[in-house]
Amino acid sequence: MGKLKIFQQGELDAVLMYRRLTELTDREDLKEAFKNAAADEGKHASIIKTMTGLKLTARPTMKAGILLVQKCLGWKCALYVLSFSEKLGGHLYKKPAQIHPVLEEVRQDEYKHSGILKEKAKNTDIKSDLKKILITTAVVVGAVFCICRLFRK
Ligand SMILES: [Fe+2]
Ligand SMILES: [Fe+2]
Repeated sequence: MGKLKIFQQGELDAVLMYRRLTELTDREDLKEAFKNAAADEGKHASIIKTMTGLKLTARPTMKAGILLVQKCLGWKCALYVLSFSEKLGGHLYKKPAQIHPVLEEVRQDEYKHSGILKEKAKNTDIKSDLKKILITTAVVVGAVFCICRLFRK
């Protein structure tokens, strides 16, 4: 039960995240992918809710995390991170799906999301993100350098 609650929460958080991402992009193909993923995550949350009987509300943590990646590194990196996390989600459902076969469909959806988002990432030009990536890298390297100097004294 405890583990299912975590999955239910994750699905709800993912709905919130994909809805925000849908608003954030002007690209129609991304809007459609995010909208479809949000609908699937909503279905997943409902399926798990029937098992836990818990009424949970979405938390903004996941949304904030991916927005930070998108702001700092651009869409290509954000899409790869999303694809990776969906794949990881699919793997994490492996054991619960053995106990609750209804979750196998959920697990396959996560792999489907991962594949779609990976394709979107591949088809995203990194050139427009290079400035962001360079600035973020410079800030991170600068911060690490300052922290190292502080601790050496
Ligand atoms: Fe899901
Ligand atoms: Fe998903």
